[in-house]
Amino acid sequence: MTQDELKALVGQAALAYVQPGQWVGVGTGSTVNHFITALAGIKAQIPGAVSSSVASTQRLRAAGIAVREADEVDSLPVYIDGADEIDGQGCMIKGGGAALTREKIVADLAARFVCIADVSKRVAVLGGFPLPVEVIALAVPQLQRRFAAIGGRAVLRAGVLTDNGHPILDVHGLRIGDPAAMEAELNQWPGVVTVGLFARHRASVCLLGTPTGVQTIDFG
Ligand code: 5RP
Repeated sequence: MTQDELKALVGQAALAYVQPGQWVGVGTGSTVNHFITALAGIKAQIPGAVSSSVASTQRLRAAGIAVREADEVDSLPVYIDGADEIDGQGCMIKGGGAALTREKIVADLAARFVCIADVSKRVAVLGGFPLPVEVIALAVPQLQRRFAAIGGRAVLRAGVLTDNGHPILDVHGLRIGDPAAMEAELNQWPGVVTVGLFARHRASVCLLGTPTGVQTIDFG
């Protein structure tokens, strides 16, 4: 199976976590795009979706699914999103699609985070995928110096501004053995808007697409 077929598999499997009659939180990316396609098939069962990006909002609306923004709901039973990497505790690197800030906001509303990912995303230690960090433009040089001091090479993502109008630094060379500690530390650095580490908002469940089918990993 191709990577895209594995993504389609978990996008379909995630329907099992959508609660009839309830709004569902929807992430961003190519795996989530498959989920949105599947969700369109059961759209009559839900009032709609809370979106994490302009791109997902457009795709949801094109599929005939009503959309609300994060500031229009108080809570959600479930948030469904992809990841760039996921470790054995359900901690993730996210933000490859530049939607990390709104993704974290919607995830924060949700009782459960269901991660959908193909098997290539499963790692022992986070950091092989460059860590995305949304930042205030004025802080870029100082943040690059700070990352260099901890062994990271922070590269400005060329030609990209987030939906919030900010640049992204992709930080190469970090080995993230303690994601919660690193997320807490980086959150203190002036100019950091959002760190693409999801440790406080780790996955409750991961639906991992493998060549032999969907593996469900429950992180409790
Ligand atoms: C977007 C994200 C995505 O979930 C992540 O990049 C995975 O994307 P894909 O499903 O395309 O592999 O965090 O900001």
